[in-house]
Amino acid sequence: MLIFDWEGATHLLCAGELHNSSASGEAFLRRRWTKLMALNLNCVLAPVSWELLEPQEGSFCFDMVDVLLQLARESGVKLILLWFGLWKNGRSTYVPEWVKLQQQKYICCKNTNGEQTSVISPFCEAAVLADARAFTALMEYLQQHDSPQRTVLSVQVENEAGFLGGTRDISAPAQTVHDLGIPKALATWLVSQGKADQAGDHWRAAFGSNADECFMAWGFASAMDTIAKCGKRQYALPLFVNAWTEQYPGEPAHLRPCGGPAGAGLPIWRAFAKHVDAFCPDCYQENLAQECMPYQMANESLLIPEMRCDRWTPAFILYAFGELRASGVAPFGVDALMERAASGVQDAVAHLTMHDPTAPIASIYQWIQAMAPMIQGARQSGRIRGALRAQHNVSGLDLGGYHIQIHFQDSPDGFAAGGLFISPTDGEFYILAINLRVNFFALTESAADYLCVENGHFQHSQWVPDCRLNGDEQRVSFGDAPSVVRVKLYPVLSHA
Ligand code: DGJ
Repeated sequence: MLIFDWEGATHLLCAGELHNSSASGEAFLRRRWTKLMALNLNCVLAPVSWELLEPQEGSFCFDMVDVLLQLARESGVKLILLWFGLWKNGRSTYVPEWVKLQQQKYICCKNTNGEQTSVISPFCEAAVLADARAFTALMEYLQQHDSPQRTVLSVQVENEAGFLGGTRDISAPAQTVHDLGIPKALATWLVSQGKADQAGDHWRAAFGSNADECFMAWGFASAMDTIAKCGKRQYALPLFVNAWTEQYPGEPAHLRPCGGPAGAGLPIWRAFAKHVDAFCPDCYQENLAQECMPYQMANESLLIPEMRCDRWTPAFILYAFGELRASGVAPFGVDALMERAASGVQDAVAHLTMHDPTAPIASIYQWIQAMAPMIQGARQSGRIRGALRAQHNVSGLDLGGYHIQIHFQDSPDGFAAGGLFISPTDGEFYILAINLRVNFFALTESAADYLCVENGHFQHSQWVPDCRLNGDEQRVSFGDAPSVVRVKLYPVLSHA
């Protein structure tokens, strides 16, 4: 469970994730950082790679960690660090050179065709322990240099772990584990899950057609637990993992990093990576609700550490906070986007007018932070909803005693439509939206009309009306620039 508290309040993370290489050099990062802050972020997700942290075995360099801490503190934002260790997108591209070059010691996965890959095997104990040592050094450094300030809120362990390049690892250490059959702890868990009849001695008997994926999930979840446990012992920050999600039901597991925290492997991760506090989806699909569903457990808040950064992003953010009860969201590669937006070159201008979401993201983030106490309160009382452009032009939801009909008004050249709806009391609504128009219908009476419609802003979390909309302007409609409208309704009684 990830809750982000600082300065005595619980915050909704309005974050952005840096591009993979942006935090690898100080001058480069500093240039991008300044522009990035125009997005009104309250948190930045930034990689810390093993290859830069431990360039020689046993010798650590924390220079880029220091730069990140300094920049974040100067800008008054929080950090989430992403540990790019043994696995990044199902490959092992961020391990130090001394790991890559000792292939007898740090053993890589071999796929079932017998092909050698360069992905380090999760069953290679020496590799897992070497990663765990480096991760521990990072956590110890954070404990020593940041525990009073708590600039770093949380750490992501690895990045989209799994094996890209095969269904199952048949390298020597993997095969040894495989041949021993289902480990006792896993067999006991299967029984506890009411799958006693499936808990045979062999992977195929227990997991059927998902056997290879579940075997790999066992390997990765166990390795991750070892790494997370070692790091947490030094500094008990909340830790999470991110997933390359299942892209559609029935997708063969080897088309994504096999054995990662997704698909049939996810329950194994939840059961055995006990030192990981949350399992989070990287969201690039248009069907955001479906992609997030496996990661929404009862009483758990949802963190989306990566989200597509394009015409869908503003609406995704509104839907994630309004409907999916997200504790935080982070569009991916936002620094590169800000760089392009500021560059002024011709193609960037074309790109900007078409799909560049920086302006609406900055605006939505400002609104969400101003409304955070209201959003948290509405979540507790169940008085918040979200809407997102789906296949149809019109959709609807019930809230605050009314049916709200939503007409999506986006175009393929503009930002996708979406909104967040809060009803603190029946008949009263605050709507933060983009590219949609709404009509209200009373659920209990035949007609309803407006008591008032207002534009305004929030000051110290309180609504301050700027303009009362009536006559030609009395409509609840939102264009390309997200804004909040407050509406009060009254039922027109049929017997009056
Ligand atoms: C998902 C990865 O986790 C990110 O690091 C990045 O590579 C993106 N994909 C690119 O779209």
